[in-house]
Amino acid sequence: METFDLIILGGGPGGYNAAERAAEGGLKTLLIEKRALGGVCLNEGCIPSKTLLQSAKVYDYAKHGDKYGVTAKGAALDQAFVVARKNKVVQTLVSGIAAKLKKLGVAVVFAAGRIEGKTAAGVTVSADGKTYTAKNLLIATGSTAAVPPIPGAAEGLAAGYVLTNREILDLTETPKALAVIGGGVIGLEMAAYYNSAGAKVTVVEMLDKIAGPTDAEIAKLLLKELTAKGVVFHLGAKVTGLDKAGVTFEKNGAKETVKADKILLSIGRRPVCEGFGLETLGVFVERGAVKTDDKMRTNVPGVYAAGDVNGKSMLAHTAYREGEVAVNTMLGKADAMRYDAIPSVIYTNPEVASAGETEETAKAAGREVKAVTLSMRYSGRYIAENEGGAGILKLVVDRKTDRILGAHIIGGTPSESITAVSLMIESEYSVEALKKLVFPHPTCFEVLRESFYEI
Ligand code: NAI
Repeated sequence: METFDLIILGGGPGGYNAAERAAEGGLKTLLIEKRALGGVCLNEGCIPSKTLLQSAKVYDYAKHGDKYGVTAKGAALDQAFVVARKNKVVQTLVSGIAAKLKKLGVAVVFAAGRIEGKTAAGVTVSADGKTYTAKNLLIATGSTAAVPPIPGAAEGLAAGYVLTNREILDLTETPKALAVIGGGVIGLEMAAYYNSAGAKVTVVEMLDKIAGPTDAEIAKLLLKELTAKGVVFHLGAKVTGLDKAGVTFEKNGAKETVKADKILLSIGRRPVCEGFGLETLGVFVERGAVKTDDKMRTNVPGVYAAGDVNGKSMLAHTAYREGEVAVNTMLGKADAMRYDAIPSVIYTNPEVASAGETEETAKAAGREVKAVTLSMRYSGRYIAENEGGAGILKLVVDRKTDRILGAHIIGGTPSESITAVSLMIESEYSVEALKKLVFPHPTCFEVLRESFYEI
C-alpha cells in the first residue's frame, strides 16, 4: 500500500488546484480522477460554454455589423466547426493541467476512487485495484446536473432528446427548436448561444424572474435584451411533463405546450456525496452537501471538502480558493474562506457581473443602505463600442460606514473588472477613500468611479 500526505478525490478546479498548492508546499500528493482533469468546469462547463459563446459573439457582430458601418454578407455559423474548436480548446487546457501536475510531482490515477476506511495511519482509498493511504483526504467530487421528477425527464435523457450541460455542449447540429427548463446561469448562457446559432429558443422558468439571485432590475434588463434577440420566456411556469414533441407547463392556471426537438434541463446542480464510500468515514452531510467550516474541514479530522461538493457557492473560482484554504490548513498556515465578495458572472451578451450584496439582500440583512443606479452610457468607451446599448451599474453602499457592500453591472465586459469590486468590499475602504483611485480612461468600468460621486 502506497502512502501519501494527501489524497484528493476529484480533479476539477477544487481538486487540481489544491494538488498544485499541496505539491508546492511539500506534501506528497495523489490525485484520483475518474473522467478528465479539469472536471466539469473545463470539460463540460465554464470553458466549453465560453468557447461557444465567443462564436456566437463573432457571428452576431457579423450579422449586425451594419450598426458599425460594416457589412459582412453571407455570414454563417458552422456548428460542427464550433464544437470541434471547443474540443481543441478543452484539450489544450487539459494537457496544460496534466503537464503542470507532472512537473510538480503530483501522482495522478485515472479511475473511480473509493474510500475504504480510516485507521490511525490515515484514510485508505482504493482505485484501479490498488490501495493508497494518507493522513489527509480532500473530497472534491463536485456536482452533477439535477434531474427533476417531471414525467418524461428520465426517459428523455435516456433517449437523447433531453440534455444536460454535458450533452448541450456537444451538439454538432443546431436544433430547430430548443426548450430550456430553468432560467438560471446555464439556461441563460445556452439559450443565448443557441438563439444566436439559429434555434428557436424558449425558456420555461418556475419563478417570476430569471437569473436567480441577480439584482432584480438587472435581471429584468437581461430578460428584455434576450427577448429582443428572439428568446421566448415563460416565467412563473410549472412544467408538468415533457416528451419527444416538447414541454408542457402550467402558467396562470392554463396549460401550454412548447414544441422542441431538444430540451435542456438546467434547474440546478446537486453535490456528489454518494457512490465513493463517504459513509464509511461518518462525514457529516447536511441538505445533500458535505458540511465544512471556514477552513474546509469536515467533522472528521484530516478530512476536508472543497468545491461544489460542500454546496456553499457552486462556482469554479470558489472551488480554487477553497482548495487552497484546505491545503493551507493542512500545512498549518493560518487561512480561512470568506464568501462575502465572491464575484459571479453570466456570460451572455450583454454580460452580467456582480459582487457582494444587492440592495434587497443588504436591506433584508438589516443594513442601512444607500444605492445608486447609473447608465453605462456615462462611459464614452461603452457608447463607442455598444451601439444602442442600455446597460446599467448599481452601487450599494452601507450608509453608516460608507463602505461598498456590492456592485452589479450589465453591459461592457464586467467579468474582467468585477474583481476590483470584490477587492473594494474585502479591503473595507470607504467610498470617500476610493474616490482617490485613478481608473484608466476610456473604460466601461469608469462608471463605477462616476457612481462614487452620485451616491
Ligand atoms: P441555477 O440554480 O443557476 O438555476 C436554476 C433555475 O431553474 C432557477 O432559476 C430555478 O428557479 C429554475 N427551476 C428549478 N426547478 C425548475 C422547474 N421544475 N421548472 C422550471 N424551472 C425550474 O442552476 P443552473 O443554471 O442549472 O446552473 C447550475 C450551477 O452551475 C450553478 O450553481 C451555477 O452557479 C453554475 N454555473 C455557473 C456559471 C457561471 O458562473 N457563469 C455558468 C453555468 C453554471
